[in-house]
Amino acid sequence: MVEKKQNIVMFPFMAQGHIIPFLALALHIEQRNKNYSITFVNTPLNINKLRQSLPPNSSITLLEIAFDSSDHGLPPNSENCDTLPYSLVITLLRASTSLGPAFKELVSELIRKSHGERPLCIIADIFLGWTASVARELGVFHAIFSGCGAYGLACYYSLWSHLSQKKKKVDDDDDEFVLPDFEEASKLHATQLPLSMLEADGSDSWSVFQGQNLPEWVKSNAVLFNTVQVFDQLGLMYFKRKLGCPVWPVGPVLLSLESRSKVGKEGGLSPEFCKEWLDSKLVKSVLYISFGSMNTINKSQMMQLAMALEASGRNFIWVVRPPIGFDINSEFRFHEWLPIGFAERVTDSKRGLLVQKWAPQLEILSHKSTSAFLSHCGWNSVLEALIHGVPLLGWAMAGEQFFNVKFLEEELGVCVEVARGKTCDVRHEDVVEKIELVMDETSDQKKGKEIRRRVFQVKEMIENATKDEENYKGSSVKAMDDFFNAAISMKEKKMMMMIKREEEEEEKKTSNSINGIS
Ligand SMILES: *[C@@H]1O[C@H](CO)[C@@H](O)[C@H](O)[C@H]1NC(C)=O
Ligand SMILES: *[C@@H]1O[C@H](CO)[C@@H](O)[C@H](O)[C@H]1NC(C)=O
Ligand SMILES: *[C@@H]1O[C@H](CO)[C@@H](O)[C@H](O)[C@H]1NC(C)=O
Repeated sequence: MVEKKQNIVMFPFMAQGHIIPFLALALHIEQRNKNYSITFVNTPLNINKLRQSLPPNSSITLLEIAFDSSDHGLPPNSENCDTLPYSLVITLLRASTSLGPAFKELVSELIRKSHGERPLCIIADIFLGWTASVARELGVFHAIFSGCGAYGLACYYSLWSHLSQKKKKVDDDDDEFVLPDFEEASKLHATQLPLSMLEADGSDSWSVFQGQNLPEWVKSNAVLFNTVQVFDQLGLMYFKRKLGCPVWPVGPVLLSLESRSKVGKEGGLSPEFCKEWLDSKLVKSVLYISFGSMNTINKSQMMQLAMALEASGRNFIWVVRPPIGFDINSEFRFHEWLPIGFAERVTDSKRGLLVQKWAPQLEILSHKSTSAFLSHCGWNSVLEALIHGVPLLGWAMAGEQFFNVKFLEEELGVCVEVARGKTCDVRHEDVVEKIELVMDETSDQKKGKEIRRRVFQVKEMIENATKDEENYKGSSVKAMDDFFNAAISMKEKKMMMMIKREEEEEEKKTSNSINGIS
């Protein structure tokens, strides 16, 4: 008999930075476990885009949940954070909380279609905390999947939960503070707070949204993290303590280059050209610079960075997005945004590539010519660097990225912070110094040597965690198995309870009819 596949429902928030790790997890599960089927839920435009990016041999089902952005004070056809200015991100977040009834109906319909059989589990986004209540109502195992690292998200979670206390401390002219329930993270500084937190006063939209979203997490049955046990223990312990549920590090799960280029932005640098260019460079001679798909620095910072690149004399690939204040879809104006003649000098000397919007990041990070990565330290980028043993120069932009940089520098020792945020003062002399610290392998500088040694160690930790051999399963492989076993066990328990209840009712009916009541 062919056993019926158990269905897994996955629902990421509508942003590339969230959809990509979910898709990576979905493909990872599909490849490893043939006995599960996957239903991937999102709003129509995102599903449409995903349809073109799924590998042809994938059996993942894409399912639309009805959503009209114009009903929520958003421009028409705005279903993804990447197409919205920062000020409207919170509007999309708030709009997503209205999807509750539609999501419940969608899962109920799946159950009806499979003759009453429930999905094995719902895996949902950190921003869709309300899905835990829906799962409870329907008797389905629920897990949150975090595409963020555990340490960074722990700081983020703790800060939103203690916002009023933090405010008081910062207002007291004491710019440094310790998180009351995450002291392991030691001191944070006010400049490490993302804009949404700096502006929060308890009644603003972000505070209200997170005030509803985060408490919902305790209703979940588990949290999955795209991270590795050995190096992210502090954050993992935090969530175990706060939520009282199992927390499983199953990472890193990453999209292959092929899938990534398909969900990536059109245009930009082709993988073939990129490889050819990198092939022509010496081993560990290239600095890769990218601030992710949602962020951009400001014009004066851009100038300073360009001056630093010129002064350092190093090879580089720089993914340039229009600076703050310019439409992200506008024409490129290198002459206005960069020092005079910079673009021409870069091209003539073949020393660098200025790439518009998108580059094949995995191709670059896995290439032997790449030496270091100047990054906003979004967790996807961090994992892609660490898996290839590439040290980081950290320049956080938003969200938990500031805490990722802190973690990478203070705990893992694989990163140097270059700058903080979109308004901080940047001096090109400082940037050059830090680039040299990380890239100059001939220098005796202790810190640089230590960073390169540590990043090699972390690469090995990742290899160990993801090893899946007959006689050895790494921690991330085990965690994934444990998660499925917990979901299966809960489903079986629920089924036993249902059968028992039916039997009891049957019994009642029989005895009632014997007594002549029925
Ligand atoms: C689909 O093809 C890719 C590349 O050949 C392979 O790695 C993957 O395992 C296949 N996926 C499935 C579900 O068969
Ligand atoms: C841009 O960054 C510079 C520091 O490099 C800062 O002085 C300036 O205030 C920033 N401008 C804006 C508009 O944020
Ligand atoms: C990886 O596993 C091997 C074999 O168990 C072990 O010797 C090594 O120390 C591990 N590496 C790291 C960095 O933990």
